[in-house]
Amino acid sequence: MFSFKEIRTPIIEESKLFSRSVGEDSDIVSKEMYTWKDLDNKNITLRPEYTAPVVRSFIQHNLGANSSLQRLYYIGPLFRRERPQKGRQRQFNQFGVEAFGSPHPEQDAEVISVGWKILEDLGLKNSLMLKINSIGSNNCRKSYRSALKDFIRPNLDLFSITSQKRFKNNPLRILDSKSESEKILLEDAPKISDFYSDADEEHFSELRKYLKKMNIPFSIDTRLVRGLDYYTRTTFEITSDILGAQDAVLGGGRYDELVETLGGKPTPAVGFAAGIERIIILMKNKKLLKNKNSPDVYFSCLENNGLSIALSLSKKLRDLGIIVQMNTLRKSMKAQLREANKLEAKYAVILGDSEIKNKEVIIKNLKDGKQLKVSQSEMMDNFSDLT
Ligand code: HAM
Repeated sequence: MFSFKEIRTPIIEESKLFSRSVGEDSDIVSKEMYTWKDLDNKNITLRPEYTAPVVRSFIQHNLGANSSLQRLYYIGPLFRRERPQKGRQRQFNQFGVEAFGSPHPEQDAEVISVGWKILEDLGLKNSLMLKINSIGSNNCRKSYRSALKDFIRPNLDLFSITSQKRFKNNPLRILDSKSESEKILLEDAPKISDFYSDADEEHFSELRKYLKKMNIPFSIDTRLVRGLDYYTRTTFEITSDILGAQDAVLGGGRYDELVETLGGKPTPAVGFAAGIERIIILMKNKKLLKNKNSPDVYFSCLENNGLSIALSLSKKLRDLGIIVQMNTLRKSMKAQLREANKLEAKYAVILGDSEIKNKEVIIKNLKDGKQLKVSQSEMMDNFSDLT
């Protein structure tokens, strides 16, 4: 639909890749990475995120030479040593995209629309909120950082130890604070939008225009700075109230300087990653997940002398691509039908004594309870809805 190409990167990377990109003072690098020394005394890390490995690979394999635009997607496991809770695991999975080459807001809009479309197609649109922000370009952030510090400094001792540390190293992250008292202290803090250059302003306003044109609903969250250091200008998150404390389903943004920081030619880029486990929580909550293990047909054979017929009829059904589960515990009729219902099978095919004698089977629709007796040779004609 969007014609992105898949990229796969190793699960293990050199640790310095993440300190140089995600940032030494970020939560991920300062306390969440699984890092150890290998036999060559090299620090290696289980990847805690995908963007830096994709950029490393983009540079190493000179992917920018193939085309001035490279649109890539990925899916796979990641590792962060966080405190596990609902929606937060130490090993989790993401899918995401990274689009290299275009500095223009239409690329941001396209990337956001990819994420939105996937979540919409999964049936989640009504449970989601898209928040966007622009943290401006480098110069804008420099002036803003010093204005924000000037604002916070007189009250610094009222802030938490974490925020006081951030004050030194990355004051913008204080805006991320979840503490109610800090939120109050920050109420009248200067806004980054007052520090945008004309180009920053135009970039952000065009992005908003494109999102509106695509009917993608959003709100502006001026505090959305995100916890990774590589972002420039656009940042965005898709959240859901259903998820509770860990409410972000998807997060991303523009990172125009990262390719150069990691040793490549200056290449603008924008991307997002979505947490698959959080999507599954939402889908379960909205009853959108089908029980994957549900058989189409539960084959219930009630007499031992019918087992070979049951096995051969089950094979015929499976040859047509129908998912069949056969009871091999020789349980009672009642127990077998109870299991068929529990498994949410669509049909039960029942082979009892008289059916064996008359070369027939009973087909029971487990949704409406209707049943009919058919000859074994005509049995297959009754499952056209399954093939
Ligand atoms: P992130 O916000 O760190 O961004 O992660 C993206 C998504 O991964 C989150 O919104 C969440 O759904 C999921 N996630 C993160 N940590 C966990 C966890 N411990 N357990 C379960 N799910 C989790 C990034 O990773 C950036 N690389 C996104 C990006 C791509 N920016 C630009 N391109």
